[in-house]
Amino acid sequence: KQAYFKKVKFVGSFLEAPTRLELPQFVFCGRSNVGKSSLINAILNQKIAKVSKTPGKTTTINVFLVDEKFYLVDLPGYGFAKRSKSMVNAWQKPIENYLLNANMLRLIFLLIDTKISIMPSDEIFLNWLKYNNLSTVIVLTKIDKASQSHLAKTKKAIETLNIKYIKTSSTYHKGIDKLAQLIEQACDI
Ligand code: GTP
Ligand code: MG
Repeated sequence: KQAYFKKVKFVGSFLEAPTRLELPQFVFCGRSNVGKSSLINAILNQKIAKVSKTPGKTTTINVFLVDEKFYLVDLPGYGFAKRSKSMVNAWQKPIENYLLNANMLRLIFLLIDTKISIMPSDEIFLNWLKYNNLSTVIVLTKIDKASQSHLAKTKKAIETLNIKYIKTSSTYHKGIDKLAQLIEQACDI
């Protein structure tokens, strides 16, 4: 495992993400259990974000400062059926507000479980991102769990969207170098 970044600081857990941060930000979104927190841990090469087998682990917006240079933002997942309607609304507003108003938001990583592919909740969110002109990169997660046919099917679904995508496995540290590179490049823009 390679360390791409040196110093990581947990800034805090928020119900409403701070939109006026002074450094570039990268945000990780996607359905519950897709592997957002695990991916952040893989990029940072440490177990700093909380991971769980049970969907709905991350319930607040968690912000990490890396090398005093940029922020990684871990969001709670959407599309979690066990969550009540009011919880869904409570999720949506602050996150939409953050994504629309964060002054130095560089990239949104939208995670898709390779085996599950794009679900209706992802489509809704993708359309919303596109409508609002937000720079998005799709991250295919858990490629270690997907068969060749799953991968082929998911790739086909994504290729119709015309969005850049990266294949990853946090468990086996696959594709993490590409993500780290992308983050570094986007910091310098
Ligand atoms: P919420 O916070 O609930 O929205 O979930 P999350 O998207 O942050 O997912 P999390 O990182 O907590 O991971 C969910 C489950 O998937 C955990 O059991 C992880 O160990 C597992 N997982 C994450 N990444 C991988 C991967 O690359 N491969 C495999 N096999 N499992 C993974
Ligand atoms: Mg999480």
